[in-house]
Amino acid sequence: MNILITGANGQLGNEMRVLSALHPKHTHFFTDIAELDICDKVAVSAFVEANAIDLIVNCAAYTNVDKAEEDEATAMKINADAVAILGSQGTKVIHVSTDYVFSGDEHLPCKESDPVAPRTAYGRTKYEGEKRLLAVCPEAVILRTAWLYSEYGNNFVKTMIRLGKEKEKLGVVFDQIGTPTYAADLAAAIFTVIECPMWHPGIYHFTNEGVCSWFDFTIAIHELAGIKNCQVSPILSEEYQYKTPRPHYSVLDKSKFKKTFGVSIPYWMDGLRRCVKLLNR
Ligand SMILES: NC(=O)c1ccc[n+]([C@@H]2O[C@H](COP(=O)([O-])OP(=O)(O)OC[C@H]3O[C@@H](n4cnc5c(N)ncnc54)[C@H](OP(=O)(O)O)[C@@H]3O)[C@@H](O)[C@H]2O)c1
Repeated sequence: MNILITGANGQLGNEMRVLSALHPKHTHFFTDIAELDICDKVAVSAFVEANAIDLIVNCAAYTNVDKAEEDEATAMKINADAVAILGSQGTKVIHVSTDYVFSGDEHLPCKESDPVAPRTAYGRTKYEGEKRLLAVCPEAVILRTAWLYSEYGNNFVKTMIRLGKEKEKLGVVFDQIGTPTYAADLAAAIFTVIECPMWHPGIYHFTNEGVCSWFDFTIAIHELAGIKNCQVSPILSEEYQYKTPRPHYSVLDKSKFKKTFGVSIPYWMDGLRRCVKLLNR
């Protein structure tokens, strides 16, 4: 297959690039905004035609949650309008969405069939992207994920390692619960979908296994990174000056993905161990 991977300079896009080496039977085309702006309908169609693309994996997105509150129009262009453009090319599509489509008020892991209620501009634009994609490409696969980190790009793991080295004390919120997800494991899940003999369209939830708070996550990061001289304390969300409200409980139920594709998913600390080992090289 000829596979186009958009947003290739991001966390997930880079992990897709690493894993693509294990799938040499496909030809992979890695593009980011400089090579292919997914908002440019003419350019997208020309690229798909010129390279006989069979499948688009959309890793491109407007992911800055705070900035999206100030500029929802731009976030909508990238997270929804452009997703509809990608879905209109007559190719298979795998698209990535977010736990932010839910309110975060739940106390049980969210299933794909649970009602959505985005509370942020980012969440609204990502939900709109899901709807617009399914309207033009009902056979698309959408993977909702959460709390993504990677060796690449900016993320919580890298920030906590830096702060752990710079500061003697650090307060981290403990009243937001979720599942840290190694982008390399999400990339592996995307290749599971690609390599599956049957195409199974629909929405799926994919994160690593288990749950923790940002506080627990930080303790684990520091332990694995060998950071000993920073005292980490639990704080409440209200003590941290968030510009945008964050979900208190955003755990995704991954049963559908595991059952459909017959796979098990690594525990979050296992993914973190592999990532920190690479960061410590
Ligand atoms: N990060 C998380 O915690 C998280 C959680 C849940 C779901 N997700 C979803 O997971 C997916 C991957 O996230 P990620 O963390 O890998 O994102 P990321 O690191 O922000 O990467 C996104 C990439 O897309 C590029 N991009 C932006 N606009 C574009 C355009 N018009 N055309 C082409 N490329 C464009 C970005 O370039 P610039 O950097 O120059 O803008 C960036 O390289 C996204 O769909 C995101 O919504 C992420």
